Amino acid sequence: MAHYRAVGRLPRQRHTQLRDDDGHLFREELMGEEGFSSDSSLLYRRGVPSAITDSTVWELADQSRTPNHPLKPRHLKLHDLETGTCPVEGRRLVLGNNDVRIAYVVTGTDASPVYRNAIGDECVYVESGTGVVETVFGTVAYRQGDYVIIPRATDHRWVPAEPSRLYAIEANSHIHPPKRYLSRFGQLLEHAPYCERDLHGPEGLDELVESCRDLTDVEVLVKHRTSGGIVGTRMTYATHPFDVVGWDGCLYPYTFNIEDYMPITGKVHQPPPVHQVFEGWNFVVCNFLPRKVDYHELAIPVPYYHSNVDSDEVMFYVGGDYEARKGSGINVGSISLHPGGHAHGPQPSAIEASLGAEYFDESAVMVDTFAPLELGEGGLAAEDPAYAWTWAGRGPDASGGDGGPAVFSNS
Ligand SMILES: [Fe+2]
Repeated sequence: MAHYRAVGRLPRQRHTQLRDDDGHLFREELMGEEGFSSDSSLLYRRGVPSAITDSTVWELADQSRTPNHPLKPRHLKLHDLETGTCPVEGRRLVLGNNDVRIAYVVTGTDASPVYRNAIGDECVYVESGTGVVETVFGTVAYRQGDYVIIPRATDHRWVPAEPSRLYAIEANSHIHPPKRYLSRFGQLLEHAPYCERDLHGPEGLDELVESCRDLTDVEVLVKHRTSGGIVGTRMTYATHPFDVVGWDGCLYPYTFNIEDYMPITGKVHQPPPVHQVFEGWNFVVCNFLPRKVDYHELAIPVPYYHSNVDSDEVMFYVGGDYEARKGSGINVGSISLHPGGHAHGPQPSAIEASLGAEYFDESAVMVDTFAPLELGEGGLAAEDPAYAWTWAGRGPDASGGDGGPAVFSNS
């Protein structure tokens, strides 16, 4: 985030003294990206951010991955997946590669432990539910349709107000608006489908700090990497990490809701990049939302067949009317994985049916990766094995679909 914010108590100049009413110095911490060469924030703490009293192993949920081999498109029915209820520890890995992992959890209403992802930024899409995420920067409220962007190594905990379906996109890098949306100084440009006014940062710092003030020996779950892969460590901090009385800078968590995205439409079918919302290293996030469609008199509103030779495409269907796709099994809560090296698109019947359409009432969140995705254990558990054969209407196990339209109108 290139947008400066200042919250709470700060000294007039950076790297100078800030004291409480009793004269005690606050501890200044710089949290910055890319080795002092990118966005950062300065935090002023009551405690010492490096003061730990213990460090033990945190056993992560199963992070194993199975290659998509033999190659085929996949349909994963996330609403059939049973998960733990903790917003962090209950996540099940659905898909992943060495750049990004997608996990899914249906929470209860208990708060998660304090958690820090030391591998990369998280972009958690809220399929349903409300609550807050408490962080060292303050509290961000979340609701259905939000992307919750949490920068790498931000201590935070999820506090659902109601059971919430969370689709966690965990990067091995940073997640940010596409560079082409930004001015050379980082402002969102007029052609971007959203602007700074649509991004909501943390609030309520004072209340959060006060509520944690006397807590000591606080466990923080840290997800990090070793040469052997992704692991977890349970670190115990002498004082609560939510002890920041003020901060300023351009690095902080925020939310963006898909309702505030202004879809870009065209005279003929527009390619997925016009629907992009974020990007990370070797992947992009797009959202396909209700909108007017193509207005050329001979337009074909559904996409042409396309072979994204450099990408695996993951669509998560989050809302809309899916009657038109009976037969493919795709519905709200579904994921389709259309791998690179294999063309996909609608069936001829879907093309014909789309002619003359003026509006699509469908919502989906898409992740395109530039390296092949593998199936997590949750993905394997939620798979509809008949999906790959729905274009042909028959397959090796004779359990193919009925030949109905097999893909989302926009994918
Ligand atoms: Fe596609």
